[in-house]
Amino acid sequence: MAGEAARQGRFGQALPMLSRALALDPEGAAPAYAELLGRLSLTGWPPQLEADLVTCLHAGSVDPQSLARAAARMLLAKYPEPVVAEDPLWTTFLTRCINVHPAMEARLAWLAGQVLPAGLRDALAAQAFASEYVWGGEALGIPAAAAAEIAEERRLAAEMPSLGDAGDGVSRAVRAQYEASPYPRWRAAATRERVSVAAHLAALGAPQAGSVAVLVAGCGTGFEPIDLARMDPSLAITALDLSAGSLAHGRRMAEVLGIDTIRFVQGDILDAARLDGRFGLVSCTGVLHHMERPALGLAALAEVLAPGGVLRVALYSERARAWIAEAHRAIAEHGWDASPAGIRAFRAHVLALPPEQPLARLRESDDFYTLSGCRDLCFHVREHWYRLPAIGAMLAAAGFELLMLDAPPEARARFAERFGTAADRDDLALWDRLEVDFPHLFAGMFHLWCRKQG
Ligand SMILES: C[S@@+](CC[C@H](N)C(=O)[O-])C[C@H]1O[C@@H](n2cnc3c(N)ncnc32)[C@H](O)[C@@H]1O
Repeated sequence: MAGEAARQGRFGQALPMLSRALALDPEGAAPAYAELLGRLSLTGWPPQLEADLVTCLHAGSVDPQSLARAAARMLLAKYPEPVVAEDPLWTTFLTRCINVHPAMEARLAWLAGQVLPAGLRDALAAQAFASEYVWGGEALGIPAAAAAEIAEERRLAAEMPSLGDAGDGVSRAVRAQYEASPYPRWRAAATRERVSVAAHLAALGAPQAGSVAVLVAGCGTGFEPIDLARMDPSLAITALDLSAGSLAHGRRMAEVLGIDTIRFVQGDILDAARLDGRFGLVSCTGVLHHMERPALGLAALAEVLAPGGVLRVALYSERARAWIAEAHRAIAEHGWDASPAGIRAFRAHVLALPPEQPLARLRESDDFYTLSGCRDLCFHVREHWYRLPAIGAMLAAAGFELLMLDAPPEARARFAERFGTAADRDDLALWDRLEVDFPHLFAGMFHLWCRKQG
């Protein structure tokens, strides 16, 4: 009932119901509450809401990062003027989230220059480390726990199983980028409701025989394979990436979470055939568009899929990324490079822009708030952008049949409004026409499920 009220925007009705549910069952109620808090535009700090926010930030069933904006807004409403305050909301925010709010960034830099009580100082040091000192804070020092994690990840990276050297020059450049800047930064993973991947694939019309072997191709810092492993512990998961440093983060986090169903392997998608076994599902999110020839990457993934196996792929939308070209122009014009100094200079430029400037929109992207995220967003060594018909052609050429275009709910509603409920939801040409009018329909990337034919 509370969920229904929240979905319909009746927040005043939903909040007290969710608050009572949270008091009775924090882990159970926190995901719905957090979802609602993420959508509220907080201008005040009602004490009950604040207490509930802290509860949600600590709940294992919630990704605290999804509450980073809400927590920052609440803190700024509570403390409109800079002041040093020992407050559980501050310490919880600083230790559980990575800041993604521009005004909070200025506040953090101010705080770093003050004499702070030990608890707040430690929490701010942890925040500065997590956001890669994007706003400063180096003088706070590396927290002892983080120093131990860095040492452990170096060790894990050095002994990472490997398929051998990266294939082409672009793969080497991309590897260098992600060894220096593993992406994405993440601090905690929410526990997941159990979902059977086999049942999901069967519902898509692509049932797999036996237990499902999964390849996460280009897994970055391991968020996706870990999320999958927690969602469905029956999966045997291989997590492949060019960057041993990124994999080491995933491997360490998997160990912390007690997950032993993932093998992490360093290597190039182009060499995926060197992996043992064949896979019922390959997931490749935001990766192929960073290859010199994405079609070759796609062919390599087709080769390691079992007959009838499923590929879930996500690729950049040209229309949704068009405004990033603006960032590329500014970067080229000022001669900023992808070093920390270059990224900081670019960020300072963006932070100083008036809100009506198109580039000021970058401040709404979570990626803007870490050095590695900003590098991935605006300083990438290689990226291709797509329109849906071209993706359809590339998939068909690699022997894939489209099972489903995974469109967000608002996009599906617009599609039905424009073409009627009887229209084919997997007709990429129709979606392409719709995207002309709504360039942000897919929030940056197209997500598609497809099946290897034959
Ligand atoms: C933008 S990150 C995406 C990470 C993750 N899939 C996600 O969605 O958060 C791209 C990742 O793909 C990896 N990558 C790029 N080209 C690759 C290749 N040819 N073979 C293997 N991994 C690759 C990079 O090292 C990087 O970790």
